Amino acid sequence: MNRTRRSILRALEAGPASGPDLAAAADISRAAVWKHVEALRQQGFSIDSTADGYVVTDTPEYGSTAAIEYGRTAPYQVRYYDELSSTNQRARELAAEGAENIAVVAGRQTNSRGRLDRPWQSPDGAVSLSILLRPDRPPAHAPLFTLAAAVATVDVARSLGVDAAIKWPNDVIVPENPDAGYGGRKLCGILTEMEGEADRISWLVVGIGLNADIDAAELPDNATSIRSEIDGPVDRGETVRAMLAAFDQQITTLDSVLDAWRDRSVTLGMPVRVETHTDTITGIAEDIVMPGALQIDTGEGIETVHAGDCEHLRPNDRHNDSL
Ligand code: BTN
Repeated sequence: MNRTRRSILRALEAGPASGPDLAAAADISRAAVWKHVEALRQQGFSIDSTADGYVVTDTPEYGSTAAIEYGRTAPYQVRYYDELSSTNQRARELAAEGAENIAVVAGRQTNSRGRLDRPWQSPDGAVSLSILLRPDRPPAHAPLFTLAAAVATVDVARSLGVDAAIKWPNDVIVPENPDAGYGGRKLCGILTEMEGEADRISWLVVGIGLNADIDAAELPDNATSIRSEIDGPVDRGETVRAMLAAFDQQITTLDSVLDAWRDRSVTLGMPVRVETHTDTITGIAEDIVMPGALQIDTGEGIETVHAGDCEHLRPNDRHNDSL
């Protein structure tokens, strides 16, 4: 979308605006304003001409940058694509071009990636979002941004009526039984990638795959979706805007993200088994510490694990592992 049209939409977000006011603000003629308003109508915006000026009464369906950007409060420029191989891949390309503070959104992904090089299923109806940042932080702090995304996703899911929680390190799940803690189905996965120098992150991409407006039957058995949990449709545009706002809030208070994570986690206090690339550690998950490592009480001491696959154990599993 061209810059003038974007600035007209920005002005209309604040309320009704007359043709002359829009013309003066954009330094164009009233006839040009009218043409831009017509073009926006063609793109799916409903814009009424009222006594107070132009008023936006409806926005297009998910499916364009303008539709997702309209009403957004967080300071990220949106780039929407109907189809991408992977939003993380596109964000990495934009990083190589020097961009920052961009939210790459795809209607669908054909080759999305998960943690540990696993493929990630991204059917139509998913929210596939990668946020490109250049934070003034050391590379060791990168995991904090992943935790911020998990916290933000839980908050957005809960605001939509889903009983979501975080399983270490960054899976957003809907627990089978929140009191028991074990079991549960995955709602969202997060993949953070970065490039850095010794003391500073050069760029960071936080990729979020949220099962939003999808029927859980289309997903793997251990996954669920917002739509299936609330038994109703999900507005993906609203969801992306809410995700960006919640994420931005978390990263502006990044020093308290571990506490925010603790408040929303179902892992702490649970018997767990964590598979790292070299080891299997079983014990009680005691705490999360900088920059997102899990402390496990093995019965013989505390082990600190930085990365791995974590499984919450049921009481029987726990017995079998002689905890
Ligand atoms: C996981 O394995 O749990 C992480 C999955 C992350 C998937 C998201 S979808 C948006 C972004 N683009 C990608 O290719 N991957 C991430």
